[in-house]
Amino acid sequence: MLYVALPIKDGDKIIGVSRISMFITDIDNLINSLRDKILVVILIVMIIALLFAFFFSRNLTRPIKQLVEVSRAVAHGDFDQKVVLKNNDELKLLGGSFNNMINEIKSLFTQVNNQKLELNNIIASIQEGLVVLDQLGKIVLCNQSFEKMTDVESLTGKFYWETVRDTKVATLVKKMGNSSTNLTSEIQIKDEYYLCSANQINSKKEIVLIFYNISDLKKLENIKRDFVVNVSHELRTPLTVIKGYIETIEDDIDKKNLKYIEIIKNHTNRLISIVQDLMTVSQLEDNHIKLNLTEFNIEKLFHDLNITFEQKVKSKNLNLVFIINDNIQIFQGDEFKIEQMFINLIENAIRYTEKGEIIVRAGVEGSFIKFEVSDTRIGIPDKDKERIFERFYTVDKSRSRQIAGTGLGLSIVKHIVLLHNGKICVKSVLNSGSTFIILFPII
Ligand SMILES: Nc1ncnc2c1ncn2[C@@H]1O[C@H](COP(=O)(O)OP(=O)(O)O)[C@@H](O)[C@H]1O
Ligand SMILES: [Mg+2]
Repeated sequence: MLYVALPIKDGDKIIGVSRISMFITDIDNLINSLRDKILVVILIVMIIALLFAFFFSRNLTRPIKQLVEVSRAVAHGDFDQKVVLKNNDELKLLGGSFNNMINEIKSLFTQVNNQKLELNNIIASIQEGLVVLDQLGKIVLCNQSFEKMTDVESLTGKFYWETVRDTKVATLVKKMGNSSTNLTSEIQIKDEYYLCSANQINSKKEIVLIFYNISDLKKLENIKRDFVVNVSHELRTPLTVIKGYIETIEDDIDKKNLKYIEIIKNHTNRLISIVQDLMTVSQLEDNHIKLNLTEFNIEKLFHDLNITFEQKVKSKNLNLVFIINDNIQIFQGDEFKIEQMFINLIENAIRYTEKGEIIVRAGVEGSFIKFEVSDTRIGIPDKDKERIFERFYTVDKSRSRQIAGTGLGLSIVKHIVLLHNGKICVKSVLNSGSTFIILFPII
C-alpha cells in the first residue's frame, strides 16, 4: 500500500490530517497504461513524420528524374519529348529552358538533315562518277554514276582498287597524298575513257575523285585523227607529182618565169613538209602506237645526224658540235623516233640561228639521261615558251612562214619525249640563244 498524509492547517495551527492510501498494484496499472499511451503517440508522430519526409523527398526528386529521362531520350534522337512540371519553382524554370533547348536542337537537326538530303540528292544526280576515299584508300562515299561505271553496288567500306584496277588511279591517289593541288589523269575502265580528277579535303585528309566520261570526245578525236591521216595520205601523191613536174620544167623555163617557178617550188615543198608532219603527229597521237624499243649507240646516232646536217650547217656558216659526257654510250628507246626528235630540234636550231654554233649534248643527270640542243641566236620570248610545243604554234607567224616552218616540229618532239616517259623544257634568252633540255628516265 502507499500512504500519503497532508496536514490541514488553520493559520499556523494544524486542525486535522488528510490521509490517502492506495494499493501499489493500482499505481503500477496506471503507470503502465500511461506508458502505452505515450508509446502509441510517439509511434503515430514518427509515422506521420516519415510519411511527410517521404512525400516531400518524392516531390523534390520527381522533376529531376523527369529531366534525366527526357535528356536521355533526347540524347537518343527523340526530340518529341517534353519536360512537364507542375510545381511553380526554379525546377519548372529549368524545365522550360530545357524544352526550349530541345526545340532549338530539333529545328537545327531537321535543317542539317534536309541539307544532307539535298546534298545526297545532288551527289546522286551528278552524271560524273564521284568517290571519296579515306586515308587508307577505303571508299567513304560514292554516287550512283560511279557504281554504274564499275558495275558494283554497295561500295562503301571497300578499297578503291577492288573496283578500279588502274595503275594510273593508284598513282594519282598516291601522288595526292603529298600534294595539295588538283591532279588529273586519263584512264580507261572497261571500254570507256575517263578523265579522273583528284582533290584533297584538307581537314579530313580524304581524297575526292571525279570521273568525267570522255569516250565521245575520244571517239571524235580518233575520227579527226583518221581524217587528218587520210587527207594527208591523199595529198601526198599529187604533191609529189607536182614537185616532180616542177623539177622537170625548171631547167627549160625562161629566166623571166624562173622566179615564179621558184615560189611554186618552195610552197610545194612546204606543203609536202606539212603533210608529212601532220601524218607523223597523227600517228604519234594514236593511243595504240607501239614503240620499237632497242638499244642503240648514241655516238653512231650523233655521227649520222652530223652527216644529215653537214650541208645545211655549211651553207649557213654555222658550227654543229656533238658532245657526249659521262661515258654514256647506249640508249634504250625507239631509234627512229629519237632520231626524228633530234632532226626536228637541230633543224629548228639551224633555222633560227643565223650566226654562231649549235651544240648537241648527251650525259647522265641523277637517274636520267639528259640530252640538250642549244643554239646561239634569236631565242624565244618568255610568254611563248610553254606554247611552242602546241600544234601549229609559231612565235611569229610571218617570221616562221618566211623561214618555211610547219609549226609542227616541236609538237612531234614532245610526243616522242612523252612516249618515252621523258620530260622536255626550254631555256632561252632573247637574241642569245635557246637550249632544249630532254630528260629520259634510265630504264
Ligand atoms: N631553236 C629555236 N630558237 C628560236 N625559236 C624557236 C626555236 N625552236 C623553235 N622555236 C620557235 O618555236 C616555234 C615552234 O617550233 P616548231 O614546232 O618546230 O615549228 P616551226 O616549223 O615553225 O619550226 C617556231 O615557230 C619558233 O618560233
Ligand atoms: Mg620546226
